[in-house]
Amino acid sequence: MTLKTNLFLSTLIALFALCAKADTLPTDSMPCATLMYSLPGAEYMHKLVVRNGCQVTDVDFSNIKSLRLYSDRQSVGNRYKYVRGIAPQEEGEYTYTVKILNENLQPRAIEVKLIVSNHLQSPTPMMSWLTWNWFAREISHAKMVEIAKGLKSTGLIDAGFRTIVLDDAWAVPTDVKADLTYDPQKFPEGILGLKHALQQIDSRLLLGIYSDAGTQTCENYQPGSYLYETQHLALFDSWDVDMLKYDFCNSEASSVESYTRMGDAVKALNQMRQANGLRPFVLNICEWGKTDPWLWAAKAGGSSWRSTSDAREDWIGDESLPGVIGGADVVRRLWMYTGVNRYNDLDMMCIGLHGLGGPSNYIVSHTQNGGTITGLTPMQARTQMSLWSMFASPLALTCDLRSTPQGEANAGAQMPDTLITFSDLSILTNREIIAINQDALGQQAEYMEQLSTGSTNFSPLGYDVYLKDLTHNRIAVSITNRSSEPLPSITLPLASLYLNPHKKYHSRNLWSAQTTTIKTTLTTAPLAPHETQVFIIYK
Ligand code: GLA
Repeated sequence: MTLKTNLFLSTLIALFALCAKADTLPTDSMPCATLMYSLPGAEYMHKLVVRNGCQVTDVDFSNIKSLRLYSDRQSVGNRYKYVRGIAPQEEGEYTYTVKILNENLQPRAIEVKLIVSNHLQSPTPMMSWLTWNWFAREISHAKMVEIAKGLKSTGLIDAGFRTIVLDDAWAVPTDVKADLTYDPQKFPEGILGLKHALQQIDSRLLLGIYSDAGTQTCENYQPGSYLYETQHLALFDSWDVDMLKYDFCNSEASSVESYTRMGDAVKALNQMRQANGLRPFVLNICEWGKTDPWLWAAKAGGSSWRSTSDAREDWIGDESLPGVIGGADVVRRLWMYTGVNRYNDLDMMCIGLHGLGGPSNYIVSHTQNGGTITGLTPMQARTQMSLWSMFASPLALTCDLRSTPQGEANAGAQMPDTLITFSDLSILTNREIIAINQDALGQQAEYMEQLSTGSTNFSPLGYDVYLKDLTHNRIAVSITNRSSEPLPSITLPLASLYLNPHKKYHSRNLWSAQTTTIKTTLTTAPLAPHETQVFIIYK
């Protein structure tokens, strides 16, 4: 063997050892999503966020020809490289390998799994209506039928709100898991009968149900599903249920184990559903963000996960009782974990409750004011709809849409005849805002901390700038005034929004429905207290 061949061989062996080592190293150098989803042939984006001091050097796309690595976000904003392009046309499981140099300039190789499927649980965030924050335990077939009629007559079904979800207390109260079944007093036609009734009102309506990964549900009312996942799911399937919200009270095992068990059961069910040409069953994970579900919940089999405690009808709130701003604060630095079919869930929106709801109104001022709170102002409601949409959160309503609301979960409160105002409806059915939530790129807006002055969580001061990448090379930018004082207009350099400062763009303000041409900067209108303005910027 010549010296040259020897050198070549030893280099090869050294390289091989390095790669082998890199492959076995922990994946924590890349704190962002590593399990990704796409519909076949859809626009695709994956932001490769690495720890401080690490850098992405390359991506090996293997047999994926239509994706590329981009570096143009390295000098401004949140500073990361990203993968963008068109996902493969063929269904299947793909991988690409992200090459990283860590703080000590050691190479790391991190494998990303990309599942391309026509049968994703949630290609876009689910839009639903949940029983909990209005009715609490007081639910029934008759009430759900009235709610469905309300969803239809208000135009909310047309706007996309199509899954009615029975939260806690739909079953016969017991703690015997094997006995789980619906309460015949509340649902005399059964859950299948309810699904039929809903579909007679509008064939686009779907039905969700609730269970818990423990001994009993959060109300200690009905049995949970831990160790009974397959049986309970088969029951829901036999009732033609489309979705499960799966809670974590009275748990009996770790969150990862508990949710993986249910996730595996859902995967098996979905294989059968796909083979039979049926829509996928959707799993929403609800452990309130306590054990960082953005790190494991997609792998466990869910397509969205609650990332906050229960949302309250309040402006700020705190970590345990988050209001509109508090909820956003909890998830605003988690944007790199979101993508198609994997969403942080900010919980039900409180729009339309007007301080008269049930559990969502149990906030500090509720007890201090003898049960009376003011509810969200129209500006606060607009901010909730804007941020939930910018964040690609599932959009869930819980307000009473019946023609004569009764306030069951807040006994004694006088109900206005029409609880849902014109302002509520115009906010909830703003097609352009909904399109931001439903954008097929599936991105959660980035918190643009360098452009914001409101970076202290739960503070009523300052303003926040968010940027959401959209399909067709558009971006959405939102600016939220956290404070109760008006703000003069704010000017943001286009370069700081990842745009070319020398090019002209169109800028459309989605709440005022005005479009202008901009160059160099984006300038907002003056902001009222608690107002959010949302712009789409496109060429
Ligand atoms: C938990 C959940 C709520 C609701 C209740 C029902 O608190 O976070 O959204 O489902 O349980 O008991």
